[in-house]
Amino acid sequence: MQIIKTQIDNQNLQPIIQKNKYMSQIKSVGILTSGGDAPGMNAAIRAVTRAGIFAGFKVFGIYRGYRGLITDEIEEFSTQNVSNIIQRGGTILKTARCKEFQTPEGRQCAYDVMKRRGIDALVVIGGDGSLTGARIFANEFNIPIIGLPGTIDNDLYGTDTTIGYDTALNTIMDCVDKIRDTATSHERLFFIEVMGRDAGFLALNGAIAAGAEAAIIPEISTQVDQLSELIQNGFRKSKNSSIVLVAESPITGGAMGLAQRVKEEYPGYDVRVSILGHLQRGGSPTAHDRILASRMGAAAIDALLDDQRSVMIGVKNDEIVNVPFTKAIKNDKPINQQLISTLRRLSI
Ligand code: F6P
Repeated sequence: MQIIKTQIDNQNLQPIIQKNKYMSQIKSVGILTSGGDAPGMNAAIRAVTRAGIFAGFKVFGIYRGYRGLITDEIEEFSTQNVSNIIQRGGTILKTARCKEFQTPEGRQCAYDVMKRRGIDALVVIGGDGSLTGARIFANEFNIPIIGLPGTIDNDLYGTDTTIGYDTALNTIMDCVDKIRDTATSHERLFFIEVMGRDAGFLALNGAIAAGAEAAIIPEISTQVDQLSELIQNGFRKSKNSSIVLVAESPITGGAMGLAQRVKEEYPGYDVRVSILGHLQRGGSPTAHDRILASRMGAAAIDALLDDQRSVMIGVKNDEIVNVPFTKAIKNDKPINQQLISTLRRLSI
């Protein structure tokens, strides 16, 4: 790897870049956010913009994800465009799930816009679907693309956490703390449904953080009937109220499905359902997510300077890593079995 030396001119506080051989090829970078918004996306946009300008790149904000790349909703960003956004949830660039980009014609239009605008490389902030689109686009047109894992689901392989996951987890914890007041006062069984698409990270860690009795997650639902196991193990032995976090996946049956089953199979319970929904995606990012997004955004620019392409930036054991798109997207991120055992042991 070639080291890029950067000095600061103390009078003007301008970065002076000693350009390496790759910098002559990449002069400008476009950033977009795609798929579901996640808290910390703005911190990532800020980091990519500022680190990019610091490295001597022109930086372009692309609005509404891949759709904006097709329809040319693009603006050149200065450092001021990203002032005062680190603390804001959502994404200032807006986001979308773009069907057209899934077609070769749509991607051709996007490439034509990039050429016309003189955008040489992209940083794509999003989840599984967004990085899948990035991988195909990069291969088809030989474009340097770096991905940042932006999703509350935490379901991307190769990174300990994704941008937005920690904030969503804290939101879930706060909500469960509040619902517990009713659960204990009325001595009820609550099923609280959380997001995660097909992954159980939010449900499992949310349950541990909020002291819930159990988590029903898709990673285990295929092996055992978690509801029967839970009730047969007498999860109500020492308590009159119970809180069970349920991952939204169809594999778990969702909170509604489980509540229906309890009504039919175990009619003694006073059961209620709470579906947390999109409030889990909103709000100001936690310090963890702001720092993660800032580190990853700066690392995306480092990766471009290092001539990396088709990689997602991850953080593993507190170190930045570059994960090939194919691995990040295709490998299933495993659930830590110790967490499952911890939850079981602590909910007696
Ligand atoms: O991928 C993020 C996510 O919030 C999932 O947890 C959820 O299944 C999905 O997006 C919801 O998508 P939408 O906002 O389009 O309904």
